[in-house]
Amino acid sequence: MSGRITFWPSGTTIEVKPGTPILSAARRAGVLIQTRCGGNAACFMCKVKIRPGSDLMPIADEEKRKLAGLEEEGYRLACQAKVRGVVQVDVPLDPLRAAVQKLLAKQAEEKDELW
Ligand code: FES
Repeated sequence: MSGRITFWPSGTTIEVKPGTPILSAARRAGVLIQTRCGGNAACFMCKVKIRPGSDLMPIADEEKRKLAGLEEEGYRLACQAKVRGVVQVDVPLDPLRAAVQKLLAKQAEEKDELW
């Protein structure tokens, strides 16, 4: 049995061995997930949302403690959550990229108003 993970919103999909952490899969797939602690469950920056029906390994106590209930809403730490089967992950937009996109959209609106 092999694992397969799809990262949204890009739709990038790769095959992985069961037990592969989501963060490792993302790096292999060229998908950016923010981190600061290097995958030590300390920075909380790698938080991603897992789509319903995804097949992950059971959550470890340390990750559960860190998430403090957010796991019930589908959130997991990409550095700790491990793929078991088919997994779909929503990756939050990088905050800097989100700010740039918002600025560009505002500029485009202003440009349209001038014409
Ligand atoms: S990479 Fe820091 S908590 Fe996951």
